[in-house]
Amino acid sequence: MDKKSVLLIIGGGIAAFKSLELIRLLKTRGIGVTAIMTKAAEQFVTPLSVASLSGNKVYGDLFSLTDEIEMGHIELSRSADLIVVAPATADLIAKMANGLADDLASTTLLATDKKVLIAPAMNVRMWQHAATRRNVAKVTRDGVAMVGPNDGEMACGEFGPGRMAEPSEIAAAIEAQFAPAARTLQGRKVLITAGPTHEPIDPVRYIGNNSSGKQGYAIAEAAVALGAETVLVSGPVSLPLPPGAQVMPVETAQAMLKLCEEELPCDIAIFAAAVADWRVAAASDEKIKKTGSGAPKLDLVENPDILKTIATAKSKRPKIVVGFAAETENVIENAKKKLAAKGCDLIVANDVSPASGVMGGDSNTVHLVSAKGVETWPRLSKRDVAQRLMDRLAAMLSAT
Ligand code: C5P
Repeated sequence: MDKKSVLLIIGGGIAAFKSLELIRLLKTRGIGVTAIMTKAAEQFVTPLSVASLSGNKVYGDLFSLTDEIEMGHIELSRSADLIVVAPATADLIAKMANGLADDLASTTLLATDKKVLIAPAMNVRMWQHAATRRNVAKVTRDGVAMVGPNDGEMACGEFGPGRMAEPSEIAAAIEAQFAPAARTLQGRKVLITAGPTHEPIDPVRYIGNNSSGKQGYAIAEAAVALGAETVLVSGPVSLPLPPGAQVMPVETAQAMLKLCEEELPCDIAIFAAAVADWRVAAASDEKIKKTGSGAPKLDLVENPDILKTIATAKSKRPKIVVGFAAETENVIENAKKKLAAKGCDLIVANDVSPASGVMGGDSNTVHLVSAKGVETWPRLSKRDVAQRLMDRLAAMLSAT
């Protein structure tokens, strides 16, 4: 492969310090880096540090005569194989969404004909603001790729989504842009369940759980990347829809099972949803009122086990059926029991005890439990778990 190069636009946020590590990682992977820094970025890291690490001149001024004579800004915008914006601040994303071009960074982004990858980084409230949601949706529609942001503690002391992806994750996303996945699942159909289910108690209350749906959505993205026809049956979550997947929103376990059955036959079925074990036998049509004489008695019945139903189906059983086992203790032992009890080919087991931070978090440590034995993977981002899992399943499928 010939040497690839990245034009790195460093926006003005505290996460700019991580861009230095990103440059180092890219250089060790043989990827050339030229950087543009916004004025605000220079408040967080110095152009000298960026130039020293990248080994290249750092650009910053749209109206610099010497820069413009050496390399015009239009030429600069086309000089690399990929443009990476890290950190991509709310301001930079807003400019991209609206086509503003009032400095070198935004002008370059408007003038380029190259693929753009952004690594957003901002305060959680800014990330969740309706304006940012709109702008992110717009740039995604325009074909901009995105890595992160992650959940976690922020420099400002708040907690939530908005932390820039780690340099290693950004470097992996950059490499993925350069080496698109082989389309090993072209012509194959993959069915995935994700998220929680909500089982109604009355029109305003339900039984549910904390599943974020992140792992299932990442699996859908990975399946699309391998060329699969991807159907994602999703419980209620607040995640961006994975581009290229056919997403079917559902609320209850019964609806999830019905949709899954309608999607058969398929080649691979992956049940990552955290299905509620019970539902209220007869949900009330009206909001249940407080009577002042104690709590209402809820009569619960068991939900269908979607994984087991499909894994043990007499007809149209998918060629490979994968279950998840979220455990808080004896993870592997319980997963082995589940593999047999549910009749699936593979269980992806993980520790979801509160200390693990898996529930709602961005990384996961999983064990693959099959008839062949147990394989433990290192702590990986949910995205990397998804990619590795889909690669593995594609290999298993081609061996059947
Ligand atoms: O029995 P448990 O809920 O721990 O099993 C987890 C696995 O079974 C997951 O793959 C989950 O998606 C699936 N499951 C299901 N339907 C249920 C309960 C669990 O598909 N009602």
